[in-house]
Amino acid sequence: MILTERAIEILNRNDRGGFTIPTEGLYPYQWNWDSAFVALGIATYDPDRAWAEITSLLAGQWPDGMIPSIIFRSNDPDYFPGPSRWGSTPGPIPSTGISQPPVLATIVRKLTGGAQGRARRAEVFDAILAWHRWFHAARTVAGIATTVHPWETGRDNCPEWNIGLDGMAAAPDLEPYTRMDNKHVDPKFRPSQTQYDKYLTIVQFGASVGWDQRRLTDEGPFLMADPNIHFVLLRADKDLRAMAVALGLPQATLDEIDGWIAKGEAATDTLWNEEIGAFTARDMRSGRFSRGFSNCSALCFYAGTGTVEQRARTLAHIKRIAARVDHMLPSWDPDAPDFEAQRYWCGPLWPQMNYMTAQGLAEQGEAGMAARVQDDLCRVIEKSGFWECFNPLTGEGCVGNRFSWTAAIWLSWQHEKKLKGAA
Ligand code: GLC
Repeated sequence: MILTERAIEILNRNDRGGFTIPTEGLYPYQWNWDSAFVALGIATYDPDRAWAEITSLLAGQWPDGMIPSIIFRSNDPDYFPGPSRWGSTPGPIPSTGISQPPVLATIVRKLTGGAQGRARRAEVFDAILAWHRWFHAARTVAGIATTVHPWETGRDNCPEWNIGLDGMAAAPDLEPYTRMDNKHVDPKFRPSQTQYDKYLTIVQFGASVGWDQRRLTDEGPFLMADPNIHFVLLRADKDLRAMAVALGLPQATLDEIDGWIAKGEAATDTLWNEEIGAFTARDMRSGRFSRGFSNCSALCFYAGTGTVEQRARTLAHIKRIAARVDHMLPSWDPDAPDFEAQRYWCGPLWPQMNYMTAQGLAEQGEAGMAARVQDDLCRVIEKSGFWECFNPLTGEGCVGNRFSWTAAIWLSWQHEKKLKGAA
Protein backbone atom coordinates (compact mmCIF):
# COMPACT_ATOMS: atom_id res chain seq x y z
CA MET A 1 0.00 0.00 0.00
CA ILE A 2 2.73 2.42 0.93
CA LEU A 3 4.52 1.69 -2.36
CA THR A 4 1.30 2.24 -4.27
CA GLU A 5 0.85 5.64 -2.64
CA ARG A 6 4.45 6.44 -3.36
CA ALA A 7 3.97 5.49 -7.04
CA ILE A 8 1.01 7.86 -7.36
CA GLU A 9 2.99 10.59 -5.65
CA ILE A 10 5.81 10.15 -8.21
CA LEU A 11 3.40 10.41 -11.13
CA ASN A 12 1.82 13.52 -9.61
CA ARG A 13 5.21 15.05 -9.02
CA ASN A 14 6.30 14.38 -12.63
CA ASP A 15 3.04 15.79 -14.02
CA ARG A 16 3.68 18.94 -16.04
CA GLY A 17 0.02 19.67 -16.79
CA GLY A 18 -1.49 17.13 -19.19
CA PHE A 19 1.76 15.29 -19.78
CA THR A 20 4.26 13.54 -17.55
CA ILE A 21 8.05 13.76 -17.68
CA PRO A 22 10.00 10.51 -17.12
CA THR A 23 12.03 11.96 -14.23
CA GLU A 24 13.13 15.36 -12.97
CA GLY A 25 16.50 16.69 -14.14
CA LEU A 26 17.64 14.00 -16.57
CA TYR A 27 14.49 13.90 -18.76
CA PRO A 28 12.49 17.14 -18.53
CA TYR A 29 10.15 16.69 -21.57
CA GLN A 30 7.44 14.34 -22.82
CA TRP A 31 8.80 11.07 -24.20
CA ASN A 32 6.77 8.93 -26.58
CA TRP A 33 6.67 5.38 -25.24
CA ASP A 34 7.13 6.61 -21.67
CA SER A 35 3.79 8.42 -21.95
CA ALA A 36 2.05 5.31 -23.24
CA PHE A 37 3.23 3.26 -20.23
CA VAL A 38 2.51 6.16 -17.89
CA ALA A 39 -1.11 6.22 -19.12
CA LEU A 40 -1.45 2.59 -18.03
CA GLY A 41 -0.54 3.50 -14.47
CA ILE A 42 -2.54 6.73 -14.20
CA ALA A 43 -5.58 4.91 -15.59
CA THR A 44 -5.72 2.91 -12.34
CA TYR A 45 -6.73 6.01 -10.36
CA ASP A 46 -7.64 8.79 -12.83
CA PRO A 47 -8.82 7.62 -16.29
CA ASP A 48 -9.40 11.15 -17.60
CA ARG A 49 -5.89 12.25 -16.73
CA ALA A 50 -4.55 9.02 -18.28
CA TRP A 51 -6.36 9.88 -21.49
CA ALA A 52 -4.83 13.36 -21.49
CA GLU A 53 -1.41 11.68 -21.44
CA ILE A 54 -2.28 10.01 -24.74
CA THR A 55 -3.88 12.99 -26.47
CA SER A 56 -1.02 15.28 -25.41
CA LEU A 57 1.40 12.85 -27.06
CA LEU A 58 -0.66 12.81 -30.24
CA ALA A 59 -0.61 16.61 -30.24
CA GLY A 60 3.03 16.37 -31.31
CA GLN A 61 2.32 14.19 -34.38
CA TRP A 62 3.94 15.35 -37.62
CA PRO A 63 1.97 15.89 -40.84
CA ASP A 64 3.58 12.71 -42.27
CA GLY A 65 2.16 10.65 -39.37
CA MET A 66 5.36 10.28 -37.36
CA ILE A 67 5.06 10.67 -33.59
CA PRO A 68 8.42 11.94 -32.34
CA SER A 69 10.44 10.40 -29.53
CA ILE A 70 10.49 13.66 -27.54
CA ILE A 71 8.16 16.64 -27.61
CA PHE A 72 9.84 19.88 -26.52
CA ARG A 73 7.21 22.17 -25.03
CA SER A 74 9.91 24.37 -23.55
CA ASN A 75 13.63 24.84 -23.89
CA ASP A 76 15.35 23.45 -20.82
CA PRO A 77 19.05 24.43 -20.82
CA ASP A 78 19.69 21.47 -18.55
CA TYR A 79 18.93 18.96 -21.33
CA PHE A 80 21.02 18.12 -24.38
CA PRO A 81 20.33 17.67 -27.30
CA GLY A 82 17.32 19.96 -26.98
CA PRO A 83 15.18 21.70 -29.61
CA SER A 84 17.91 23.91 -31.07
CA ARG A 85 20.16 20.94 -31.85
CA TRP A 86 17.37 19.07 -33.70
CA GLY A 87 16.72 22.18 -35.78
CA SER A 88 13.49 23.06 -37.43
CA THR A 89 11.12 20.07 -37.45
CA PRO A 90 7.80 19.93 -39.35
CA GLY A 91 5.54 18.99 -36.42
CA PRO A 92 3.13 21.34 -34.64
CA ILE A 93 5.38 21.40 -31.54
CA PRO A 94 9.21 21.40 -31.59
CA SER A 95 10.46 17.83 -31.30
CA THR A 96 13.16 15.34 -32.14
CA GLY A 97 13.24 14.06 -35.72
CA ILE A 98 12.99 10.35 -34.90
CA SER A 99 10.29 8.16 -33.39
CA GLN A 100 10.16 5.44 -30.68
CA PRO A 101 8.71 1.91 -30.35
CA PRO A 102 4.97 2.18 -31.13
CA VAL A 103 3.41 0.64 -28.01
CA LEU A 104 0.54 3.13 -28.11
CA ALA A 105 -2.05 1.08 -30.06
CA THR A 106 -1.64 -1.86 -27.67
CA ILE A 107 -2.07 0.36 -24.63
CA VAL A 108 -4.99 2.30 -26.09
CA ARG A 109 -6.74 -0.99 -26.86
CA LYS A 110 -6.28 -2.09 -23.26
CA LEU A 111 -7.48 1.20 -21.80
CA THR A 112 -10.58 1.52 -24.00
CA GLY A 113 -11.93 -2.01 -23.69
CA GLY A 114 -15.38 -1.31 -22.27
CA ALA A 115 -18.38 0.19 -24.04
CA GLN A 116 -17.46 3.63 -22.69
CA GLY A 117 -14.08 3.32 -24.35
CA ARG A 118 -15.51 3.27 -27.84
CA ALA A 119 -15.65 7.04 -28.32
CA ARG A 120 -12.08 7.38 -27.10
CA ARG A 121 -10.87 4.66 -29.45
CA ALA A 122 -12.61 6.37 -32.32
CA GLU A 123 -11.06 9.69 -31.32
CA VAL A 124 -7.45 8.49 -31.67
CA PHE A 125 -7.72 5.65 -34.19
CA ASP A 126 -6.84 7.66 -37.32
CA ALA A 127 -3.81 9.26 -35.70
CA ILE A 128 -2.40 5.91 -34.61
CA LEU A 129 -3.17 4.37 -38.01
CA ALA A 130 -1.24 7.23 -39.65
CA TRP A 131 1.72 6.60 -37.36
CA HIS A 132 1.81 2.91 -38.24
CA ARG A 133 1.49 3.80 -41.93
CA TRP A 134 4.54 6.01 -41.47
CA PHE A 135 6.60 3.10 -40.03
CA HIS A 136 5.52 0.89 -42.92
CA ALA A 137 6.30 3.53 -45.54
CA ALA A 138 9.08 5.84 -44.36
CA ARG A 139 11.11 3.31 -42.34
CA THR A 140 10.63 0.06 -44.23
CA VAL A 141 13.58 -1.40 -46.11
CA ALA A 142 13.55 -4.86 -47.72
CA GLY A 143 10.22 -5.66 -46.06
CA ILE A 144 11.06 -4.79 -42.46
CA ALA A 145 10.56 -1.63 -40.40
CA THR A 146 14.07 -0.41 -39.63
CA THR A 147 15.61 2.28 -37.49
CA VAL A 148 17.96 5.15 -38.27
CA HIS A 149 19.12 5.96 -34.74
CA PRO A 150 19.79 3.92 -31.58
CA TRP A 151 17.66 6.47 -29.68
CA GLU A 152 14.69 5.60 -31.88
CA THR A 153 14.77 2.02 -30.59
CA GLY A 154 14.35 3.25 -27.01
CA ARG A 155 17.50 1.39 -25.91
CA ASP A 156 20.16 3.93 -26.53
CA ASN A 157 23.52 2.28 -25.92
CA CYS A 158 22.68 -1.42 -26.19
CA PRO A 159 25.65 -3.35 -27.64
CA GLU A 160 23.20 -4.39 -30.41
CA TRP A 161 24.05 -1.12 -32.16
CA ASN A 162 27.81 -1.56 -32.21
CA ILE A 163 27.96 -3.09 -35.70
CA GLY A 164 25.88 -0.22 -37.11
CA LEU A 165 27.88 2.41 -35.24
CA ASP A 166 31.22 0.80 -36.13
CA GLY A 167 30.20 1.01 -39.77
CA MET A 168 29.81 4.80 -39.62
CA ALA A 169 32.17 7.66 -38.85
CA ALA A 170 31.48 10.67 -36.67
CA ALA A 171 31.03 13.73 -38.87
CA PRO A 172 34.35 15.62 -39.19
CA ASP A 173 32.35 18.87 -39.03
CA LEU A 174 30.30 17.81 -35.98
CA GLU A 175 29.20 20.98 -34.23
CA PRO A 176 30.80 21.18 -30.77
CA TYR A 177 28.54 20.34 -27.83
CA THR A 178 28.42 19.78 -24.08
CA ARG A 179 26.70 16.69 -22.74
CA MET A 180 24.23 17.26 -19.93
CA ASP A 181 23.30 13.63 -19.11
CA ASN A 182 26.61 13.09 -17.34
CA LYS A 183 25.94 16.08 -15.08
CA HIS A 184 22.79 14.46 -13.71
CA VAL A 185 24.04 10.92 -13.21
CA ASP A 186 27.30 9.05 -12.83
CA PRO A 187 29.00 8.81 -16.29
CA LYS A 188 29.80 5.16 -15.63
CA PHE A 189 26.09 4.39 -16.14
CA ARG A 190 25.87 6.32 -19.41
CA PRO A 191 26.90 5.91 -23.07
CA SER A 192 30.52 6.59 -24.00
CA GLN A 193 31.78 9.76 -25.69
CA THR A 194 32.53 8.03 -29.03
CA GLN A 195 28.97 6.72 -29.10
CA TYR A 196 27.62 10.16 -28.31
CA ASP A 197 29.53 11.74 -31.23
CA LYS A 198 27.93 9.22 -33.57
CA TYR A 199 24.45 9.77 -32.14
CA LEU A 200 24.86 13.48 -32.87
CA THR A 201 26.25 12.80 -36.33
CA ILE A 202 22.95 11.13 -37.23
CA VAL A 203 21.02 14.09 -35.81
CA GLN A 204 23.16 16.47 -37.86
CA PHE A 205 22.46 14.41 -41.00
CA GLY A 206 18.69 14.42 -40.35
CA ALA A 207 18.66 18.17 -39.89
CA SER A 208 20.75 18.60 -43.08
CA VAL A 209 18.05 16.85 -45.17
CA GLY A 210 15.27 18.89 -43.51
CA TRP A 211 14.06 15.77 -41.66
CA ASP A 212 12.92 14.13 -44.89
CA GLN A 213 12.29 10.74 -43.29
CA ARG A 214 12.65 8.64 -46.43
CA ARG A 215 16.03 10.24 -47.13
CA LEU A 216 17.08 9.73 -43.54
CA THR A 217 16.24 6.02 -43.88
CA ASP A 218 17.82 5.53 -47.32
CA GLU A 219 20.84 7.81 -47.09
CA GLY A 220 21.46 8.26 -43.35
CA PRO A 221 24.65 7.07 -41.65
CA PHE A 222 22.96 4.29 -39.63
CA LEU A 223 20.39 1.69 -40.70
CA MET A 224 19.53 -1.34 -38.60
CA ALA A 225 16.54 -3.60 -38.00
CA ASP A 226 15.60 -3.79 -34.33
CA PRO A 227 13.68 -6.62 -32.63
CA ASN A 228 12.13 -4.05 -30.28
CA ILE A 229 10.60 -1.92 -33.04
CA HIS A 230 9.73 -4.96 -35.14
CA PHE A 231 7.98 -6.96 -32.42
CA VAL A 232 6.29 -3.95 -30.80
CA LEU A 233 4.99 -2.77 -34.19
CA LEU A 234 3.76 -6.23 -35.18
CA ARG A 235 1.95 -6.58 -31.87
CA ALA A 236 0.55 -3.06 -32.19
CA ASP A 237 -0.64 -3.73 -35.75
CA LYS A 238 -2.61 -6.69 -34.41
CA ASP A 239 -4.14 -4.55 -31.66
CA LEU A 240 -4.93 -1.81 -34.16
CA ARG A 241 -6.73 -4.37 -36.31
CA ALA A 242 -8.78 -5.57 -33.34
CA MET A 243 -9.81 -1.97 -32.63
CA ALA A 244 -10.72 -1.43 -36.30
CA VAL A 245 -12.99 -4.48 -36.17
CA ALA A 246 -14.61 -3.35 -32.92
CA LEU A 247 -15.20 0.10 -34.39
CA GLY A 248 -16.78 -1.43 -37.49
CA LEU A 249 -14.34 0.31 -39.84
CA PRO A 250 -14.45 -0.35 -43.59
CA GLN A 251 -12.88 -3.41 -45.18
CA ALA A 252 -10.25 -1.24 -46.89
CA THR A 253 -8.83 -0.27 -43.47
CA LEU A 254 -8.74 -3.91 -42.37
CA ASP A 255 -7.07 -4.89 -45.64
CA GLU A 256 -4.40 -2.26 -45.18
CA ILE A 257 -3.61 -3.44 -41.64
CA ASP A 258 -3.73 -7.10 -42.70
CA GLY A 259 -1.09 -6.27 -45.30
CA TRP A 260 1.16 -4.85 -42.57
CA ILE A 261 0.64 -7.88 -40.34
CA ALA A 262 1.47 -10.28 -43.18
CA LYS A 263 4.55 -8.22 -43.99
CA GLY A 264 5.57 -8.21 -40.33
CA GLU A 265 5.15 -11.96 -39.91
CA ALA A 266 7.29 -12.54 -43.00
CA ALA A 267 9.93 -10.07 -41.75
CA THR A 268 10.37 -11.88 -38.43
CA ASP A 269 12.82 -14.26 -40.11
CA THR A 270 15.02 -11.33 -41.15
CA LEU A 271 15.96 -11.02 -37.48
CA TRP A 272 16.57 -14.71 -36.82
CA ASN A 273 20.23 -15.14 -35.97
CA GLU A 274 20.87 -18.84 -36.47
CA GLU A 275 24.34 -18.71 -34.94
CA ILE A 276 22.99 -17.46 -31.63
CA GLY A 277 19.63 -19.17 -31.96
CA ALA A 278 17.61 -16.04 -31.23
CA PHE A 279 16.16 -12.88 -32.75
CA THR A 280 18.78 -10.15 -32.72
CA ALA A 281 19.31 -6.77 -34.37
CA ARG A 282 20.74 -6.68 -37.87
CA ASP A 283 22.69 -4.12 -39.82
CA MET A 284 20.71 -3.56 -43.00
CA ARG A 285 23.64 -2.38 -45.10
CA SER A 286 26.03 -5.26 -44.38
CA GLY A 287 23.42 -7.89 -43.46
CA ARG A 288 25.40 -8.69 -40.30
CA PHE A 289 23.71 -9.61 -37.05
CA SER A 290 24.47 -8.23 -33.61
CA ARG A 291 26.05 -10.69 -31.26
CA GLY A 292 23.94 -11.17 -28.19
CA PHE A 293 20.63 -12.09 -26.64
CA SER A 294 18.82 -8.96 -25.45
CA ASN A 295 15.57 -8.52 -23.56
CA CYS A 296 14.01 -7.64 -26.95
CA SER A 297 14.90 -11.07 -28.34
CA ALA A 298 12.26 -12.33 -25.91
CA LEU A 299 9.52 -10.13 -27.39
CA CYS A 300 8.63 -12.70 -30.07
CA PHE A 301 6.14 -13.99 -27.48
CA TYR A 302 4.60 -10.53 -27.08
CA ALA A 303 4.26 -10.22 -30.87
CA GLY A 304 2.87 -13.77 -31.09
CA THR A 305 5.30 -14.61 -33.87
CA GLY A 306 8.15 -16.99 -34.70
CA THR A 307 8.07 -20.73 -35.37
CA VAL A 308 7.70 -23.34 -32.63
CA GLU A 309 11.41 -24.05 -32.90
CA GLN A 310 12.40 -20.37 -32.76
CA ARG A 311 10.30 -19.88 -29.65
CA ALA A 312 11.72 -23.00 -27.99
CA ARG A 313 15.27 -21.80 -28.60
CA THR A 314 14.37 -18.33 -27.32
CA LEU A 315 12.90 -19.87 -24.18
CA ALA A 316 16.06 -21.90 -23.65
CA HIS A 317 18.05 -18.63 -23.59
CA ILE A 318 15.59 -17.08 -21.16
CA LYS A 319 15.96 -20.08 -18.84
CA ARG A 320 19.76 -20.01 -19.06
CA ILE A 321 19.74 -16.32 -18.12
CA ALA A 322 17.21 -16.91 -15.34
CA ALA A 323 19.63 -19.34 -13.74
CA ARG A 324 22.42 -16.78 -14.04
CA VAL A 325 20.92 -13.59 -12.54
CA ASP A 326 18.86 -12.85 -9.45
CA HIS A 327 16.67 -10.35 -11.24
CA MET A 328 15.21 -10.99 -14.67
CA LEU A 329 15.39 -9.87 -17.43
CA PRO A 330 18.74 -8.19 -18.13
CA SER A 331 18.90 -5.96 -21.21
CA TRP A 332 22.01 -7.76 -22.46
CA ASP A 333 23.21 -11.32 -22.18
CA PRO A 334 25.11 -11.75 -18.87
CA ASP A 335 27.32 -14.33 -20.61
CA ALA A 336 28.37 -11.84 -23.33
CA PRO A 337 31.79 -10.17 -22.96
CA ASP A 338 30.29 -6.67 -23.24
CA PHE A 339 27.70 -7.20 -20.48
CA GLU A 340 27.87 -4.44 -17.85
CA ALA A 341 25.43 -4.82 -14.98
CA GLN A 342 25.08 -1.07 -14.33
CA ARG A 343 25.53 0.57 -17.71
CA TYR A 344 22.10 1.46 -19.00
CA TRP A 345 21.18 -0.88 -21.91
CA CYS A 346 24.30 -3.04 -21.54
CA GLY A 347 22.86 -5.10 -18.68
CA PRO A 348 20.29 -3.50 -16.35
CA LEU A 349 16.72 -4.75 -16.34
CA TRP A 350 14.09 -2.29 -17.53
CA PRO A 351 10.54 -2.07 -16.13
CA GLN A 352 8.73 -1.54 -19.44
CA MET A 353 10.58 -4.45 -21.02
CA ASN A 354 9.67 -6.76 -18.13
CA TYR A 355 6.09 -5.62 -18.54
CA MET A 356 5.91 -6.56 -22.23
CA THR A 357 7.94 -9.74 -21.80
CA ALA A 358 5.77 -11.00 -18.93
CA GLN A 359 2.62 -10.22 -20.90
CA GLY A 360 3.88 -12.06 -23.99
CA LEU A 361 5.04 -15.12 -22.05
CA ALA A 362 1.73 -15.32 -20.15
CA GLU A 363 -0.29 -15.04 -23.35
CA GLN A 364 1.75 -17.75 -25.04
CA GLY A 365 1.36 -20.31 -22.26
CA GLU A 366 4.62 -19.73 -20.36
CA ALA A 367 3.00 -18.77 -17.06
CA GLY A 368 5.92 -19.81 -14.85
CA MET A 369 8.51 -17.68 -16.60
CA ALA A 370 6.00 -14.83 -16.97
CA ALA A 371 5.55 -14.83 -13.19
CA ARG A 372 9.30 -14.83 -12.63
CA VAL A 373 9.80 -11.81 -14.90
CA GLN A 374 6.96 -9.95 -13.20
CA ASP A 375 7.93 -10.89 -9.63
CA ASP A 376 11.57 -9.98 -10.17
CA LEU A 377 10.64 -6.44 -11.17
CA CYS A 378 8.32 -6.14 -8.16
CA ARG A 379 11.11 -7.38 -5.88
CA VAL A 380 13.64 -4.83 -7.12
CA ILE A 381 11.10 -2.04 -6.69
CA GLU A 382 10.39 -3.24 -3.14
CA LYS A 383 14.09 -3.42 -2.41
CA SER A 384 15.36 -0.26 -4.11
CA GLY A 385 12.47 1.99 -5.13
CA PHE A 386 11.16 3.36 -8.41
CA TRP A 387 14.34 3.61 -10.47
CA GLU A 388 14.68 3.90 -14.23
CA CYS A 389 16.42 0.52 -14.46
CA PHE A 390 18.10 -1.94 -12.10
CA ASN A 391 21.28 -3.96 -11.76
CA PRO A 392 20.14 -7.55 -12.52
CA LEU A 393 22.77 -9.07 -10.24
CA THR A 394 22.20 -6.97 -7.11
CA GLY A 395 18.79 -5.35 -7.63
CA GLU A 396 20.30 -1.92 -7.04
CA GLY A 397 18.57 1.00 -8.81
CA CYS A 398 20.38 2.70 -11.72
CA VAL A 399 20.33 6.11 -13.42
CA GLY A 400 17.10 8.11 -12.82
CA ASN A 401 15.15 7.84 -9.56
CA ARG A 402 11.42 8.51 -8.99
CA PHE A 403 10.85 7.27 -12.50
CA SER A 404 7.41 7.55 -14.07
CA TRP A 405 7.13 4.31 -16.05
CA THR A 406 8.40 2.26 -13.13
CA ALA A 407 5.69 3.76 -10.91
CA ALA A 408 3.09 3.27 -13.65
CA ILE A 409 3.87 -0.39 -14.25
CA TRP A 410 3.81 -1.07 -10.53
CA LEU A 411 0.34 0.50 -10.32
CA SER A 412 -0.93 -1.35 -13.36
CA TRP A 413 0.15 -4.73 -11.98
CA GLN A 414 -1.19 -4.01 -8.48
CA HIS A 415 -4.51 -3.04 -10.02
CA GLU A 416 -4.65 -6.24 -12.08
CA LYS A 417 -3.83 -8.32 -9.01
CA LYS A 418 -6.64 -6.62 -7.13
CA LEU A 419 -9.08 -7.29 -9.96
CA LYS A 420 -8.04 -10.94 -10.10
CA GLY A 421 -8.40 -11.22 -6.33
CA ALA A 422 -11.89 -9.77 -6.51
CA ALA A 423 -12.98 -12.08 -9.33
C1 GLC B 1 16.27 6.81 -22.28
C2 GLC B 1 15.74 5.43 -22.64
C3 GLC B 1 14.48 5.55 -23.48
C4 GLC B 1 13.46 6.41 -22.71
C5 GLC B 1 14.05 7.74 -22.27
C6 GLC B 1 13.15 8.52 -21.34
O1 GLC B 1 16.68 7.51 -23.40
O2 GLC B 1 16.71 4.68 -23.34
O3 GLC B 1 13.93 4.29 -23.75
O4 GLC B 1 12.33 6.61 -23.48
O5 GLC B 1 15.27 7.54 -21.60
O6 GLC B 1 12.79 7.74 -20.24
